[in-house]
Amino acid sequence: MNFLHYPVMNREVLEIFQGTEKKTFVDCTVGGGGHSHHILSAFPESRVIAIDQDSESLALARENLKGFAKRVRFHSGTFINLFEDFNCRRLAVSGILVDPGISTFQLKKDQRGFSHTLDGPLDMRKDLNTSLTAAEVLNSFAEDKLADIFSRYGEVSNARRLAKAIIEKRLFTPWRSTVQLRRLVEDLARWRPRPGLGHPAAKVFQALRIFVNNELDGIASWLEKIPQHLLSGSRVVFITYHSLEDRLVKRVFQQLQRLQKVELLRPFPAFPSQTEVADNLASRSAKLRALEVA
Ligand SMILES: C[S@@+](CC[C@H](N)C(=O)[O-])C[C@H]1O[C@@H](n2cnc3c(N)ncnc32)[C@H](O)[C@@H]1O
Repeated sequence: MNFLHYPVMNREVLEIFQGTEKKTFVDCTVGGGGHSHHILSAFPESRVIAIDQDSESLALARENLKGFAKRVRFHSGTFINLFEDFNCRRLAVSGILVDPGISTFQLKKDQRGFSHTLDGPLDMRKDLNTSLTAAEVLNSFAEDKLADIFSRYGEVSNARRLAKAIIEKRLFTPWRSTVQLRRLVEDLARWRPRPGLGHPAAKVFQALRIFVNNELDGIASWLEKIPQHLLSGSRVVFITYHSLEDRLVKRVFQQLQRLQKVELLRPFPAFPSQTEVADNLASRSAKLRALEVA
């Protein structure tokens, strides 16, 4: 078994799903199958619909979950289409997990271009059937648009300067590699490694990844559809890794509660424990929100 990804806040996820009918779970972002593996082990009567938009991750999940093959249905695509692709009421879906972003498996593959610490092409597509890559964005978008992407999705402080420098550089050399971009960000920030200081390229890469993959599009309307597509008592867990996504999830969860369509299972988000963060640094920015359909 090769997870390469530590399922974030796994104990909390299982505790929440413990309170459901434990029939069919949907793992909207199966990645390497870490959470699904624990769900299938903890609830032996259950089945899992395992979704991922990245075919390489889905292949890894298939391999890692082969011991549960009869209880898992794999589905390639975005979870945003879940309610069109599956009749969740008829399938008696009792729990849905969304753990988006990227996995360690994706991050560690230099050819995918997600990591500023590895040398690779500026790709960043999760769904390899789509055509827009990060390189294309950097090589063809106007300065205003680039600055908007960096400040909106990465809260990058020198977004406009960075956009201008990207345009100047591309007049001579097209943008191709992660290292080219990391070096430019380091030069502009006059960056020197210091303990406890994050690398300035992290936010720039995050912004490009969110844009290339349309990560925030459709989440609000997907969340709004939950009450009409799930049976009463079903639970939804959403783990977020940056404030833009968390604000969005919080806003729609609260709206649904005001309309008395759902109960929030916790008034505030849950965070990973200190032990979890010490074991898996990638979990440090996670926030977990959960609701139950009324
Ligand atoms: C943080 S990883 C999930 C790890 C998984 N929970 C585990 O324990 O192994 C995020 C995964 O979600 C997938 N993903 C992100 N957004 C998605 C979307 N809109 N639809 C389907 N998959 C998505 C990514 O391709 C990636 O494999």
